Amino acid sequence: MAHVSDLIGTDIAQYLKSHEHKGLLRFITCGSVDDGKSTLIGRLLYDAKMIFEDQLAALESDSRKVGTQGGEIDFALLVDGLAAEREQGITIDVAYRFFSTDKRKFIVADTPGHEQYTRNMVTGASTADLAVILIDARKGVLTQTRRHSYLVSLLGIRNVVLAINKMDLVGFSRNTFEAIVEDYRTFAARSGLHSVVPIPMSALRGDNMTDLSPNTPWYDGPTLMGHLETVPVDDHSQSAPFRLPVQWVNRPNPDFRGFSGQIASGTVRRGDRLGVFPSGKESRVARIVTAEGDQDIAVAGESITVVLEDEIDISRGDILARTDAPPGVADRFEVTLVWMAEEPLVPGRGYWLKVGPRVAAATLTDLTYKVNINTLDHLPAQTLGLNEIGVGGLSLDRPVAFDPYLKNRDTGGFVLIDRMTNVTVGAGMIRAALRRSENVHWQTIEVTKAARAAIKNQKPCILWFTGLSGAGKSTIANLVEKRLHAAGHHTFLLDGDNVRHGLNRDLGFADVDRVENIRRVAEVAKLMVEAGLIVIVSFISPFRAERRMARNLVGPGEFLEVFIDTPLAVAESRDPKGLYQKARRGEIKHFTGIDSPYERPEHPEVAIDTTRTSATDAADEIVHFLAGDGGVIWTI
Ligand code: ADX
Repeated sequence: MAHVSDLIGTDIAQYLKSHEHKGLLRFITCGSVDDGKSTLIGRLLYDAKMIFEDQLAALESDSRKVGTQGGEIDFALLVDGLAAEREQGITIDVAYRFFSTDKRKFIVADTPGHEQYTRNMVTGASTADLAVILIDARKGVLTQTRRHSYLVSLLGIRNVVLAINKMDLVGFSRNTFEAIVEDYRTFAARSGLHSVVPIPMSALRGDNMTDLSPNTPWYDGPTLMGHLETVPVDDHSQSAPFRLPVQWVNRPNPDFRGFSGQIASGTVRRGDRLGVFPSGKESRVARIVTAEGDQDIAVAGESITVVLEDEIDISRGDILARTDAPPGVADRFEVTLVWMAEEPLVPGRGYWLKVGPRVAAATLTDLTYKVNINTLDHLPAQTLGLNEIGVGGLSLDRPVAFDPYLKNRDTGGFVLIDRMTNVTVGAGMIRAALRRSENVHWQTIEVTKAARAAIKNQKPCILWFTGLSGAGKSTIANLVEKRLHAAGHHTFLLDGDNVRHGLNRDLGFADVDRVENIRRVAEVAKLMVEAGLIVIVSFISPFRAERRMARNLVGPGEFLEVFIDTPLAVAESRDPKGLYQKARRGEIKHFTGIDSPYERPEHPEVAIDTTRTSATDAADEIVHFLAGDGGVIWTI
């Protein structure tokens, strides 16, 4: 079982060779903070003789010093010590440890147990074959246990060990063990976890870790180590269709052009006919180049460079696949999303989606439901908070190649990244493509924006006014429109209060509503620009992300952000509609500047300080800006 082989001393080459051919099991451990996770991993390492003599000596003396285990070895100290070493300089707090026995090699991802670390668990678990879910026998199945189990099932991990730990503290009671197993089984079956092996143990005392314990004569299952060594794992990545996500295009000189990456799944041979996705162009494999030279065949996990017979266009993030088993290509998906940020998810907001090496702009178009992880019930939801899990529709700005997550974790798993902060805010799994994109086409329209603008003799654009309620946006916007109109221009003023009486009548003032409010008015403004108009938009539009989204909807130079900069105290003292007073009295919720944020523009084209500039002067300034060479060149 656990081993330090004599071969290490006598024939190291033979020792390494014997290791090469042992199977590998990747597993994760999940549990709450005090369930004994560090102790369990420490004990596994110790039993596998992966603790070196000097570490052992240090451990013994530390254990005496710290004294939590009455002079006995405290395995948690070992693991926690390693963790502290590793934590430096890594952003994702998952520690991977390696150990091996005569039968197998193991990589264990130790994921922190605090609730806010769901993201680390998702990260650590994405390649795991098995999950050890720890339960404190005194506490039974907790919310954490359910959350972890549900995530384990979502992530497609088929094998679960239910490690019911600290059995020594419940007198090795069979009843306690069986009650916990019963409680867990009902939940597990509903989350789709079918292969659950419960083991009663004490990681601290070693019961049922590597040897069956005399304290649990009623237990006839395997020990933890015995199970880890023998549980069958189907190496899905080898049997699945060939997928090579292209990490980079390797072009050291004009005579060589190869596509490099790590094979996510399957096998490729010289001569195979490959397609490049999403484009679908085809060619044949001329060479498979590796660090060790050319190969005829390569399999999942290997890093290779493929040279094709024909010159075809391939870029980073494309997927090479055999034409007889191609991936899907789509720009709309049904996805499961695990939210990992303090800031809630905002449907309608743009995020970056990263699927393998490919990046696309993504928006959650609708949230179908969120999951109550205790009951697995589906609940209606407008947003997802930290650690919440939901299912919804995701729309991308371009088609990408993909597989459903349960078929291929590499080409079906993705992360969402905040476009402002670059922080990973969510992780997701593609369930299926939504096919709308194939049925809704763009129609060619022959009268163009330029043609429409030409008969109006103007350059269409959006003048986007942003600022607090009562800042003076509507007043100034109105004056600007009057001047442009008087000069013979064809304009349209979209004002927040007015649009909220019609098109956006169904929206309130929660963040999600405001995002949708801006999305709709930005789309309308864009259509009006297409119509050749000068569009004046006057909305609080408190979030940078949506103002940027609106800017990106139209062409360069067609979006001019006008910041009506009025300090909150001044807007509040003016209080033209009496709304600030009501908000202060708590009669209006989510009022901008009071209990809802306003994000100041960072680089507006025009900024008006209304404490120094009158409304008429402000209007003059804006009109002059339009007429001058401040970005838009046209005549007043
Ligand atoms: S936005 O934030 O979604 O862009 P919008 O400009 O459409 O807001 O609407 C703002 C107007 O709605 C304000 O000028 C004010 O008259 C009114 N209003 C009512 N409730 C609120 C609120 N909670 N916060 C801000 N404005 C509100």
